[in-house]
Amino acid sequence: MKLDNHLDPDDWNKLADYLAEFTAEEIRELSRSLKSNVWRPVPEDLKRSFFEQSLPLDESNLDTITSEYRSSIRPYRNGNTHSRFFGWVQGTGTVPALMADIAISAMNSNCGSRDHGAIYIERLVVDWCKQIFGFPKSAAGLLTSGTSASTHLALQVAIFKKLGLDQKKKGFFGVGKPLRCYTSREGHSSIIKAIQTSGIGSDNLIVIETDENNQILTAELETQIKKDLQLGYVPFMVIATAGTVNTGAFDDFNMIRELCDKYDCWMHIDGAFGAWLKIADDPYKKLTTGLGQADSIAFDFHKLMYVQYECGSLICRDGAFQQQVFSIRPNYLAPHGLALAGGDPWFCDFGLELSRSFRALKVWFTFKTYGLKKLGFAVSENCRLAALLAELIDQSDHFELMNKPVSTIVTFKLKNELNRDRNNKICEQIVTQLQLSGEAVFSLTLQQDYRVIRAAVINHRTREEDIKYVVDRLNQLAIEHLNT
Ligand SMILES: Cc1ncc(COP(=O)(O)O)c(C=O)c1O
Repeated sequence: MKLDNHLDPDDWNKLADYLAEFTAEEIRELSRSLKSNVWRPVPEDLKRSFFEQSLPLDESNLDTITSEYRSSIRPYRNGNTHSRFFGWVQGTGTVPALMADIAISAMNSNCGSRDHGAIYIERLVVDWCKQIFGFPKSAAGLLTSGTSASTHLALQVAIFKKLGLDQKKKGFFGVGKPLRCYTSREGHSSIIKAIQTSGIGSDNLIVIETDENNQILTAELETQIKKDLQLGYVPFMVIATAGTVNTGAFDDFNMIRELCDKYDCWMHIDGAFGAWLKIADDPYKKLTTGLGQADSIAFDFHKLMYVQYECGSLICRDGAFQQQVFSIRPNYLAPHGLALAGGDPWFCDFGLELSRSFRALKVWFTFKTYGLKKLGFAVSENCRLAALLAELIDQSDHFELMNKPVSTIVTFKLKNELNRDRNNKICEQIVTQLQLSGEAVFSLTLQQDYRVIRAAVINHRTREEDIKYVVDRLNQLAIEHLNT
């Protein structure tokens, strides 16, 4: 297939057939890959060859490029589409969103602005999320590349809420004592990144200890806010978490709301994956009590809603204020309310990006195809499978749980192993071995100063057999290592 007509094909019908076969082969390969290795390493010589590829000055046939992609890129997938992938927090991807991705690419809409169909779908998706999480109609939101980006935006809104919109012009360096933000010891690193890159400085991100359930200690939070006020600091924001990355814990949102009201702080929730327990069954759903009381919430569709990357969102209760923070309309973007340049408000007025892709279509396809009941069941099922994994680990002679899992995260170390170095070395070896053999992907984290094995069960393809299989393999590997 050649693209000779000013970058386009001569014959669009022929291209349609070509793409139909291309897509079909991608699906066949996806299906084959689900029965194959979860992950395989990129061979060293192939890695080198990527660096050695020269800048392509001349054209090539699409068949050649496709064949190169199939032989040297596609086999080395990240593995997150596989049912035995439990590493970090990575979603699997849905069939409806896969179809939407093709449509998104064909439409190539710019969702930053103007009056066209895609905008209405993004508004609808944001509206659905407001309903799901219990935000009022006056709230605003937008789709983002993920929770890191959403948290960064929320932080900007919270800063200007505290200091006033004048500071958009004046800047906030030298504005009295520093602003202070609070989160728990379990808060995600994206919070630190947002604080550091916004000029607040991580010295002013106050990390509050957690209780035995890994929830922020609200009494300590209040003590710290009072202390900071006495010292002249300006407490402005509390970032609570729905589903912490290390333990899957949920903070007490009602208590945090009370404290935020009392001390005039912005309440943000990092709900990257945990926010979706809102549509699960009890006891999981109960963990989200009070979620809708936040001033803003960040969450991902590319984690527990299983939608393809990148797809996250931010919702702010005071939508009008969010718009005031981000809106800038130079002359060439001035709305004139007519035709394509109409359609106010524009999504570029609610975040940083002027050019934005049509992410909402992936969510629209996924929500409408499955319905929220089925998606809620999938979330509950992930929580139940995490509980099963925890139960089997608890019964194991070789491992012990680090926490009682409440949602989808399970962590464990070698049983009764007090020698940290030995535990850390063996846990690392087991995780590496399982990855290299392609049997399963777990990741590692640090808890109570031990390097521990961590599983995030946020994969709609995982079944009981997968859980039983990986626990058997973990036990076998532990025996091997403990005997050497
Ligand atoms: C609790 C939590 N917050 C934030 C993030 C960052 O989300 P993203 O990767 O979508 O930027 C993650 C990612 O795993 C997370 O688990």
